[in-house]
Amino acid sequence: MIEISVKAGAAAKQRDDAVVLPLLQGRKLTDAGRALQDVTEAIKPYLRKFDHLGEFGQIGTLYDVPGTFTQRVVFIGAGDEKKLSLQALRRLAAKTARKLQKSGARDVSMYLTELPVRGSTLDERVQAVAEGIWLGLYTFDKYQTQKEKPKRSLRSVTLMVASRRDLAVAEQAVARAKAVSIGTCFARDLANEPGNVCTPEFLGEQAASLQHDKLKVTVMDKAAIEKAGFTALLAVNQGSAREPRFIVLEYQGGERDEAPVALVGKGLTFDAGGISIKPPAQMDEMKFDMCGAAAVLGIFRAVTELGLPVNLLGVIASTENLLGAAAYKPGDIVTTYKGLTIEVLNTDAEGRIILADALAYAAEQKPAEIIDFATLTGACVIALGSQASGLLGTGEKVIRGLQKSAEKTQDRVWRLPMFEEYQEQIKSKIADIKNIGGREAGTITAACFLSRFVDEIPWAHLDIAGTAWNMKGTDLSVPGATGAGVRLLLDYLADRTGQGH
Ligand code: BES
Ligand code: MN
Ligand code: ZN
Repeated sequence: MIEISVKAGAAAKQRDDAVVLPLLQGRKLTDAGRALQDVTEAIKPYLRKFDHLGEFGQIGTLYDVPGTFTQRVVFIGAGDEKKLSLQALRRLAAKTARKLQKSGARDVSMYLTELPVRGSTLDERVQAVAEGIWLGLYTFDKYQTQKEKPKRSLRSVTLMVASRRDLAVAEQAVARAKAVSIGTCFARDLANEPGNVCTPEFLGEQAASLQHDKLKVTVMDKAAIEKAGFTALLAVNQGSAREPRFIVLEYQGGERDEAPVALVGKGLTFDAGGISIKPPAQMDEMKFDMCGAAAVLGIFRAVTELGLPVNLLGVIASTENLLGAAAYKPGDIVTTYKGLTIEVLNTDAEGRIILADALAYAAEQKPAEIIDFATLTGACVIALGSQASGLLGTGEKVIRGLQKSAEKTQDRVWRLPMFEEYQEQIKSKIADIKNIGGREAGTITAACFLSRFVDEIPWAHLDIAGTAWNMKGTDLSVPGATGAGVRLLLDYLADRTGQGH
């Protein structure tokens, strides 16, 4: 990760390889740009000449401007002033960073945080810009052995603020952004690894590598899982030659006696569908079926980085869903850790089966609330596409809190209902419940299934099937895993401890 720091000072005085100034539509400069215009003749005629300057993401470079100490003054179009938002800032920072990455500039200063985002505070703008830079520069190219690396790549960005009095809050905002970005990129790295590298065993090792004096990590192998009685996880694992893992993370950042927030993740390191095998098109993408687990690990990574004063319990169930000779089959009845029995009618609805044990274990620890992350249903991708994670559950307060944090971070969610009537769809004639609920309301009936395992604990379920990876890529993310859920939870947890802002 490149270095980001904060500083106050005029654009004309900066000695970096590049000084980046935002330009609003209508060729309108912000304060720092206007101040520079006042001390050098070069800017005005240049801006007048340029056609598209000011359009969102458009870039224009002026070299060797008299009266400055920098090699280049870079104007970055910020678009329509009325459309500015923290998310626009995040995206703009990402675009800018990517463009600078290719420019040959090593150290740059940026004046993006003075863009007038209505209703925002400086520390929110600094955090958004820093997140944009770090998330936008993320790549996963370790397997591209022939790819040419740029000779001179970006090394540091200085975020310029108006006054020295702003430095302290700006520094804290950068620290928050750094933790969020480290956590998000950790989640992305895990998820982008192919299924032959990122196995349940690998996930266990990665969890164990998160060392911190307030964190305890327990990784159960197959023998320990058998002993503990996570029989639903074992059923899904039957078709795989690799051992499953059950991972428990306990972070004690808060008061001793305070009940933790439980974070539960689906960790299917590859989901072929099992005997109810999936069609071949895009089956490769099912290496991302562990993105729920990756989100949980990313959140723990960020929380330990920040040392947030919360108590957290992390629970991850991990296996492959394959078709070995011993694979579980349609018609099988699986007894869960909790004792409830499941009639398996489709082996491809495996996420809810392993989550049954993970959620029941989490609920048994009596947490204050449970939040689970799962690439659970294709139906959620149909309903919401890649713009929002599905949000369901029984805990009104945790759901509202997540909705609020989603607004703020733009790690978006959209709530779906869980009316009692939907539970009818998963009634079984032969066992307690069945693992599919028919074509209608597939995301909701999957959540209904999960609801049977959380007891009375306030619970929120995030179906991240549409948001956890994006094969087209976005401004903030190269094609592949996005790290969905990490930004959301960091804000939620900070808010919960009263450290929100
Ligand atoms: N991991 C998939 C869900 C999924 C599908 C996520 C496509 C992202 C993109 C899950 O295990 C699954 O296969 N669900 C089935 C459930 C069905 C059989 C009831 C689905 O959604 O098709
Ligand atoms: Mn499946
Ligand atoms: Zn799956």
